[in-house]
Amino acid sequence: MASERVTNFSAGPSALPPSVLEEATAGLLNFAGSGIGIAEISHRSKEFLAFLEETEKEIREQLDVPSTHKILFTQGGGTGQFSAVVMNMLARHALLYPNLGVAGSERTLDYVLTGSWSAAAVKEANRLTANLPGVRVNVAADARAYSKDGTSYEGIPPHEAYTFTNNPALIYYCENETVNGVQFSKPTTTSDDQPETDQTAFPFHLLPKGQLLPLVADFSSSFMSRPIPRLADHAIIYAGAQKNIGPAGLTILIVRQDCIVDVDAAAKLGALPVPAVLSYKYIADGKSVPNTPPVFSVYVAGLVLKRMRSLGGPEKFEEVNERKKKSVYEAVGEGEKRGVFRGKVDEKRGGSWMNVVFEVVGDGAEGRFLKGAEERGMKGLKGHRSVGGIRASLYNAVTEEETGKLVQYMREFIESETQA
Ligand SMILES: Cc1ncc(COP(=O)(O)O)c(C=O)c1O
Repeated sequence: MASERVTNFSAGPSALPPSVLEEATAGLLNFAGSGIGIAEISHRSKEFLAFLEETEKEIREQLDVPSTHKILFTQGGGTGQFSAVVMNMLARHALLYPNLGVAGSERTLDYVLTGSWSAAAVKEANRLTANLPGVRVNVAADARAYSKDGTSYEGIPPHEAYTFTNNPALIYYCENETVNGVQFSKPTTTSDDQPETDQTAFPFHLLPKGQLLPLVADFSSSFMSRPIPRLADHAIIYAGAQKNIGPAGLTILIVRQDCIVDVDAAAKLGALPVPAVLSYKYIADGKSVPNTPPVFSVYVAGLVLKRMRSLGGPEKFEEVNERKKKSVYEAVGEGEKRGVFRGKVDEKRGGSWMNVVFEVVGDGAEGRFLKGAEERGMKGLKGHRSVGGIRASLYNAVTEEETGKLVQYMREFIESETQA
């Protein structure tokens, strides 16, 4: 069965390491020597609680998460967090500044728009706050304004594009836009006193000063693919597990403790009431098991994280991932010169390490490319339905060898399309 597996370049759910899948298969029958399978065991059993604690420790140690931040496990995916971040951060702001949002003053939510997923987050923020007096969703930067046609997401906007408000309840960005293949570079600075010189890195130096910033980042499709510099400068980092680290169902949150607030006290001040499962306090007070967590997803993610550590952790994966993406962008570039491919995002303007998107030029050429890939045992390369084209997702479980196979095929395809 394992020998029938193909190379999976899918954007998520996506490839997982075969060794982990084999280990998980054994765990489905007998988890941690308990005699009970992982899908059958109580989430309050000592075996599962110990595993959950170890998984948290893996994330804390590998990403260097400081004690100012809690690591929480929950469900609801990225989409659940589009709502949760708005509700929890508005509650926090209401408790900090109870008189804002009334008598003509505003409470703002700042969003940086770089692709479909940040746009989806903006849409949810607008939906939730539409009838809240004094709350305004502000688009702090819109990457489309810097695109060739003025309507596409094809890169990270330059720093001149950003206008943050003074005291927002939330500042939001998506670190890697899975659909559009646009990703922020790692920041080169360590403190706000230094201006960020890399125009594709998040402009920390432009953020409002003198407060604990409500900076929220969606890391769903890049989590654990490389270290997260300036992690401590974020209020919340969240990620669905189903790209780099496990099956769908698990959402990981790294939350600064001042963002874990009494949402019921805030609701009395006029903030939105927060459903318990979306309340960070409910999850934190219940130590990530206030209700039944996605036990199996936690298990697989924990196994993936342990394997990651044994292989050298995020620093090592960063080296490998960098080589992987470079080789694919090079092949896209070669195809571009020969009129066969058209890159959608310039690698230097925020081309994603995780999702490389490009088009195959010519009548029926995309179909030929996908068919040839499939014949060679490579699947999941079709671009997102909203944008079309090709998307090669190079998550942690996609090896250099597998990436090499894709690159070789891209080169063969260029040759075959340019003959005659
Ligand atoms: C960057 C990003 N954010 C959010 C989401 C939505 O996540 P979910 O499907 O888990 O709700 C996705 C899904 O692919 C994503 O890639």
